[in-house]
This record gives sequence, C-alpha cells and structure tokens, in this order.
Amino acid sequence: MNSNSIEDDEATRVCAASLLIRFALRASCAMLLLGALPLLLLQMPCWAGDVPEDITAEFSVKLYHQLRSSEGEENIIFSPLSVSVALGMVELGARGASLNEIRQAVGFSHLKAGDEFSLLRNLTQALSAEETQSVVKLANSLFLQTGVHFNPDFLHLMKKFFRAEIETVDFSESSSVAEHINTWVENHTESKIQNLLSADDFSSVTRLTLINAVYFRGSWKNQFRPENTRTFSFSKDDGSEVQTLMMYQQGDFFYGEFSDGSTEAGGVYQVLEMPYEDENMSMMIILPRQEVPLASLEPIIKAQLLEDWANNVKKQKVEVYLPRFKVEQKIDLRESLQTLGIKNIFTKDADLSAMAAENADGKDLYIGKAVQKAYLEVTEEGAEGTAGSGMIALTRTMVLYPQIMADHPFFFLIRNRRTGSILFMGRVMNPEERYTIFQQKPPVQPYLANNRTVSPDGNQRL
Ligand SMILES: *[C@@H]1O[C@H](CO)[C@@H](O)[C@H](O)[C@H]1NC(C)=O
Ligand SMILES: *[C@@H]1O[C@H](CO)[C@@H](O)[C@H](O)[C@H]1NC(C)=O
Ligand SMILES: *[C@@H]1O[C@H](CO)[C@@H](O)[C@H](O)[C@H]1NC(C)=O
Ligand SMILES: *[C@@H]1O[C@H](CO)[C@@H](O)[C@H](O)[C@H]1NC(C)=O
Repeated sequence: MNSNSIEDDEATRVCAASLLIRFALRASCAMLLLGALPLLLLQMPCWAGDVPEDITAEFSVKLYHQLRSSEGEENIIFSPLSVSVALGMVELGARGASLNEIRQAVGFSHLKAGDEFSLLRNLTQALSAEETQSVVKLANSLFLQTGVHFNPDFLHLMKKFFRAEIETVDFSESSSVAEHINTWVENHTESKIQNLLSADDFSSVTRLTLINAVYFRGSWKNQFRPENTRTFSFSKDDGSEVQTLMMYQQGDFFYGEFSDGSTEAGGVYQVLEMPYEDENMSMMIILPRQEVPLASLEPIIKAQLLEDWANNVKKQKVEVYLPRFKVEQKIDLRESLQTLGIKNIFTKDADLSAMAAENADGKDLYIGKAVQKAYLEVTEEGAEGTAGSGMIALTRTMVLYPQIMADHPFFFLIRNRRTGSILFMGRVMNPEERYTIFQQKPPVQPYLANNRTVSPDGNQRL
C-alpha cells in the first residue's frame, strides 16, 4: 500500500454501557484534479465554548423530502449532520459559485463569510465533548493523491476546523485504495459500515477523497425489558403485514398529540421523545394514526415543526410499543444535492481552486461522487449488569395512559436537544427490511397480537 497513515485511534474509547442504538455513517466525495504531492501530519486541538446552535435543520428537512421522493416505500436513514460537515469540508476548498451554492443551500448565507467553519467545529465539538454514557464520534479524513500539490492553507484549515486526518495514497491502485479507505471507515464506525467504496470508484484521475464518518451509540434512559418483547404484526402502508419484534414499556417520556388542522395529514398524530442516558440526546418518533399512511403526514414536516414538537411535548406516563429495528442505507447524494441547488461542484465549471497549490490548475477539480451510508439499530438492550436502573416496573393498576403503538410506519429523528443538531433522520416503513443481525432473540411468545386492550404484563385496560 502506497500510503502513509496517521491515525488517532479514538475508536478505542469504547463506552462500557451496552448499546441501545448503534449507528454509523459516512459520506465521501472523490474529487478530480492535477498537481504533485504532500503528506501531512496532524495534531488534534481541543476547544471549549458556549452552546452553539445548529442552523441546518431546514436543509436537513429538505434533504429528507428529496430522498423521500426518490425512495418509494423504502425505509430511510441518513445523517443530516454528516452531510453538512462533508459539505463544509468541500466549501473550505471552494470559490465563486461553488462556494455560494453551498452556503445558500445549507443555510449559512446569513453568517459572516467563513463563520460556518467555526460553527461546524463548535457543533461537532459540543457533541463529542459531553462526558456521558452516549458515544458520539465524528471523524473526518482527506485522502490525497501522492505526488499532487495541494494548497497548504487548505490542508491547515481542514485540520483546524474539521480535525481531518490527512493521508496520501495512490488512487491508480484502485483496489488497494478502496480497501484502505474502507478500513478507515470501519475503524471509525465500529465496523458497522463496511465495503463502502469499491475499486470502480477510483481511477488515475481521482485526486482527492473526503470522508466524514459519524458514529453514535446510546442507551435509553428508560430501558425496555427484553422479557416484554413479543412478536407482533406491523401493518405496512401497502396494507400487508409483517411479523416483527415489538418492545414494550410504560414510563415517563416527553409526549404530545399534534394536529396540523387539516385532514390531509390525517388529523391528529403523536410525537414521542425518548431520551438517552445522556439526556441531551434523544430520539423523537412521529406516528400518524393507524389508518393514515405515513406518506400523508410527511409533507407537513418542516424545520419549524421539529422545533414546535421539541418545545411542546410534555413529560408524562406513556405506554410505548416500539419495534426493534435495524435500518441501513447507502445513498447517492449527488442528485439530491443538485436538486437542492448544489450543482456547480459536480460540473466541469466547478471552482475548487482553494484546494490546489498555486502552481497547479485547480479549475480541473470537480466532485465526482458523493455518497453516504448510514446504519441504525434500535434495541431494548440496557447497560450490562444494571438490570435495575432506569427500568419501569409494570403496575397492575387500571390507569389509562396515552399509548403510542408504532405498529405501522413512522418518522424519527435522533437529535441533540441543546444544539438542535440532527444526527440521524429517517423513517421505518418495514422494520423487517434488511433485518439481518439479530442475536439474542427473546423467547417468541405472541400475546394476543395487536390486542390493544392488554399489555404484556396482562394489565387489563378499560
Ligand atoms: C465557536 O466557539 C468559539 C469559542 O467559544 C467562539 O469564539 C466562536 O465565535 C464560535 N463560532 C461561532 C460561529 O459561533
Ligand atoms: C484500522 O485500525 C487498525 C487497528 O487499530 C490499524 O492497524 C489500521 O492501520 C487502521 N487502518 C486505517 C486505514 O485507518
Ligand atoms: C448536557 O450537556 C451539558 C454540557 O456538555 C452537560 O453539562 C450536562 O451534564 C449534559 N446533561 C446530561 C444529562 O448529560
Ligand atoms: C382482547 O383481549 C380481551 C381481554 O383479554 C379479550 O376479551 C378480547 O376478546 C380480545 N380481543 C381480541 C380481538 O382478541
């Protein structure tokens, strides 16, 4: 392998809590250009600061709608934060229309020029700084063609704002480069994202590849008890049913019932916010009424609405039925980004001249590929050896709590409540789709499937 690697190996800082949600993802862009060389070493700086506010929610929601329009009835999972960070890395090397389109589309245009880099740094810093049970890891990397000159300022800023690891490789050795980069990605996603790129993605004209990886793992604040998980029918929007493992618990969560005031979105829908052990992180589940397809509710989703949900859910006792699920997806972002106005960087008119060394012709660079692969697994598992903590004892009282039964398609977000950063966004149309890694199934013992009057503990309802 014709490469020199510089790693930080943060991956060894593994949290002791067992996982509830695992996820990982990465986005990459391969860029083409000409020149001759360097290899850089880097040092990770550390910062502290006030709580920054993420301003990319609107872009994130637009991207969701764009993916939704091309995904048919499939599950969706992607990381808006990762897309924003990857675009920020590109922007650092962009000028002219290439730069302006990114600023405009991502929502940075009202910031002072260049402040977006400091904002992205502060946001990612705030996520990984939290000394808590959750693990959020963001890693950025820049693979440069050996022998090509890049602008030292660009490389310096990549390290400063994105803490990028920088390596040189020989892209003409396409299979070993693919293998090497895939290993880097695996190393930064606890092996959840594998075989991301293939030899076909590289050629002798590839000059640079930018990669962003995000990994999040957190235990629920209120864990589900595996013994309460049962097989259950999940009704897909096409009317068919699949058998899935449904987790159950009754506990205190943030909950609200909302309506957009029109019947088009199906009237009232439910919003549940379930915090992780690090209460700054939570998963929000948005569920239409059972007879209403998710496709009817999706069009009303807007950035402002995410805020409204977060601000209006109230802590209360709720009965939650949530499938165990795993969603995994590889998305080609090129078309979606172009639709959202980021076009120039993908064309021969791209201006990525700030990446190139002075004597190289930066006008030859453009983005050849932009993909993201994301993975999310939701289970009931709690921290090992802490069977008592955060668990809710089921009572046999005849109290009627609001019930949220996710036995039909729903929309979800994993978000930081302090900064508003959206780590993941997606929907579950079929929890059994690509459902391959399931160890430790609890004994399967259907309890009056879909009989909403009986809880797993036999708690009789009115
Ligand atoms: C990022 O944090 C630093 C240090 O707290 C602060 O000086 C800077 O203004 C912040 N950047 C933005 C864009 O908010
Ligand atoms: C991946 O991690 C292994 C083990 O820490 C290390 O030896 C290897 O160099 C890493 N590879 C890359 C490409 O980061
Ligand atoms: C939320 O984040 C802040 C700042 O990092 C931290 O002080 C606080 O402990 C976190 N809250 C929880 C519940 O972890
Ligand atoms: C639901 O459970 C109740 C109480 O056990 C029972 O009386 C009723 O027949 C069940 N309904 C269905 C549709 O199975």
